[in-house]
Amino acid sequence: MKRQAKASAPAKVILLGEHFVVHGEPAIVLAIDRRATVTVETRSDSKIFIRSEDMGISGFFMNDQFFPQRGGVEAKKKLEPIYAVAREVIKKHGLETAGVNIKIKSSIPIAAGLGSSAAVSVASAAALCSLFDSDKSKDNIFQIAFNAEKIVHGTPSGVDPAISTYGGILWYCKGEPIRRLDIDVDLPLIIGNTGKERSTGELVAKVNDLRNRYPRIIGKVIKAGGEIVKRSVKAIKEKDLETLGELMNINHELLCAVGVSCEELEKLVHAARKAGALGAKLTGAGGGGCMIALVSPEKIEDVAEAIEKAGGEALTTRKTDVGVAIER
Ligand code: MEV
Repeated sequence: MKRQAKASAPAKVILLGEHFVVHGEPAIVLAIDRRATVTVETRSDSKIFIRSEDMGISGFFMNDQFFPQRGGVEAKKKLEPIYAVAREVIKKHGLETAGVNIKIKSSIPIAAGLGSSAAVSVASAAALCSLFDSDKSKDNIFQIAFNAEKIVHGTPSGVDPAISTYGGILWYCKGEPIRRLDIDVDLPLIIGNTGKERSTGELVAKVNDLRNRYPRIIGKVIKAGGEIVKRSVKAIKEKDLETLGELMNINHELLCAVGVSCEELEKLVHAARKAGALGAKLTGAGGGGCMIALVSPEKIEDVAEAIEKAGGEALTTRKTDVGVAIER
């Protein structure tokens, strides 16, 4: 066993298909060049001590009990998935208990729909597998991070840990093998952050509830979401950004229909479209967080300015093919 190990994993944007992916439809998602980095080291006791610089929280778990150090008892909810990752890696290594320090640093906005929690879970799983000399394959890392998400978010689809693990552009459908879309297209996207934090688990539960109450109506909305994703592959392959933008707009309206948009997101989406975006939609769980706009190069500045004027923070990022990476 090593003394220390380090790994990083990327954030993501869902191009099309969020929420509907939880119900068995496909989604298209891409990894972006903002990363979470996790450093782990062994301890001589059995505490699992976790510290997140960016969230300003820390504390340790011992015998499944949480002892806050910074951020109060509230910190538990945010640190729990990382604890779940650590427990699983330690157990898989055949140990009953083992102490580790886990330090997180991230350039990904938190609770904003860009997959910050999954990126942290994936990077933690990779760093810990490296520390304990366990199976460092991407499939194992994905599975550990996915299991942790299930504990915390209820019924996630797995799209977030999948893209953070494998990178690139993925066609993701729950329960199917990971499918990489090796398409050589530069998708000029601007991200607009509302700055409003929200809980993915609660929004997923909200859509579930609506579907249970109106199965024949919401079932059709979900199916239409899947059709949009299928149609978009042709548009992406043909570099037909106008059609892709139109499909993004339709996708956004379906997400409104299932109740996951909000006033702040609507403002940014409409401002981006008015400033000439080819398409604009919320990305991730909605309820706040981020939206994305597809823009032709000559409109980048206009759209970014419109997003800022409408109260958002415009972020420019690029797609990355680098998924989880263990640092030597
Ligand atoms: C969150 O980034 C994406 C959702 O579809 C939830 C999930 O797929 O687990 C809202």
